[in-house]
Amino acid sequence: MVLNVIAIVISYLLGSVSFSIVIAKWVKGIDIRQHGSGNAGATNTLRVLGKGPGIAVFALDIVKGIAAVGIGHWLGDNSWIPVLCGLAAITGHNWPIWFGFKGGKGIATAIGIVVVLCFLPALYAGIVAIASIVLTRYVSLGSLLFALLTPLFVLLLGYPMPLFYGTLAFCLFAFFRHRSNIVKLVKGTENKLGAKKGA
Ligand code: G3P
Repeated sequence: MVLNVIAIVISYLLGSVSFSIVIAKWVKGIDIRQHGSGNAGATNTLRVLGKGPGIAVFALDIVKGIAAVGIGHWLGDNSWIPVLCGLAAITGHNWPIWFGFKGGKGIATAIGIVVVLCFLPALYAGIVAIASIVLTRYVSLGSLLFALLTPLFVLLLGYPMPLFYGTLAFCLFAFFRHRSNIVKLVKGTENKLGAKKGA
């Protein structure tokens, strides 16, 4: 029991390591949250700092998610713990204790988590998400589709219930954090990939 709690707390603290904030500060001496869309994530890092830093943040945030699930498998004593560790890492990414609780939207971290926990649903949802980004150049739309379709595929493919509830919670987190993106998508004012300035 104690180890379960420790695993979840460590995952939250790990998720709170916001690589976009760290790398933007390191590369350009700026707070990424005051530039572009203001989001502490890979997409905004790509927008503000370019491909290299953007890809680095994306990869490191994915690894963060993978590591949280690994910690859950290692210290946890039941199948809920890796799922809860994943959700704790997303919570840390979105509301990081190290950076004033102002973080990102948790998609890259979630990719790492679901790739380990439920590879096929993540793959199918990922294919649809990537196709939508290529066609529309709206990363937020792809992120939302990924968040929505992952629990759906988990359910359709008959994965265990902890994975369904876990991915459903990830989906709710993602929609909550993308509120402003959803408004802009509806209005047609959302940032497109490759466009220079964000609001
Ligand atoms: O994962 C974040 C992405 O969906 C949107 O990022 O910076 O355009 O709000 P951003």
